[in-house]
Amino acid sequence: MRTPRSVRPLTLQPLPMKIIDGKNTATAIRAEIKDKVCEMTSAGLRPPHLAAIIVGHDGGSEAYVASKARACADVGFLSTVLRFEDSITQDRLLEEVRKLNDDHNIDGFIVQLPLPRHIDPNVIIEAIDPAKDVDGFHPVNVGKTAIGLPGFLSATPAGIMELLKRYDIDTKGKNCVILGRSNIVGKPLATLLMQKSRPGNATVTVCHSATKDIADITRRADIIIAAMGAPGFVTADMIKDGAVVIDVGTTRIPDPTAKSGSRLCGDVDFDNVAPKCSYITPVPGGVGPMTIVALLQNTLKAALSRKS
Ligand code: GUN
Repeated sequence: MRTPRSVRPLTLQPLPMKIIDGKNTATAIRAEIKDKVCEMTSAGLRPPHLAAIIVGHDGGSEAYVASKARACADVGFLSTVLRFEDSITQDRLLEEVRKLNDDHNIDGFIVQLPLPRHIDPNVIIEAIDPAKDVDGFHPVNVGKTAIGLPGFLSATPAGIMELLKRYDIDTKGKNCVILGRSNIVGKPLATLLMQKSRPGNATVTVCHSATKDIADITRRADIIIAAMGAPGFVTADMIKDGAVVIDVGTTRIPDPTAKSGSRLCGDVDFDNVAPKCSYITPVPGGVGPMTIVALLQNTLKAALSRKS
């Protein structure tokens, strides 16, 4: 006997989930940057020059600064690392910042955070010339981002916007939920995604440590951006089918099976969440590689607008 049409058993089709490959995208953008540097040098111009100030001997900061310097070399930029001991005073550090502001051989610079406790990072950041603030942390650049004027975007939000653009992910009118309200990721991302632009034009909700029933909010999200640094926080029951999930988390956790004894862990329980998604970023290889590329893009922009 044939099964009547109306009761034919449904065969569940797995959703066509796509991995957002930040590594490949970053490689493609680096090639574009390299081409621009070649154009500059062929025209007799100095290549872009990024400087980084690092204070103390924090392992994480050392690794970040080293990878930024490697990335500069890879695309043909010049880079300079200025190292200072933990004991440097705030006034001495301010002096160094002012020197870089006035140095015509430096197009842009960053002061690697965190700084020792006796130095107020806001005072240091405010001393950076906004035209050289390639981290996009200065209040002038933060303000420009907020009102949609061109300036330097902070690297992680810029990298995420670039991924959304290159993967042609529609954000217009979508419910976008950001988990985390940090000054360098959550807040700037919220302003970018609500901007009347493409990508952008989204309805944005920012959740934080005081938000009640986060799962109820994320279940209604078309796009979730997890940026609170809580490994595996976003679980499969917190997302709806077909959601886009961007994972900004990079917490190093112990892993006896890894050669180094540890591994990077995102804020998303990738294995269980991925099958429900339309798009998802892995950790590592998702947002991370885009962050350094965004810093290179900002430095190139600073170099192209140099006056002397
Ligand atoms: N510390 C962690 N991430 C960053 C960054 O993007 N820029 C700076 N300056 N410090 C950091």
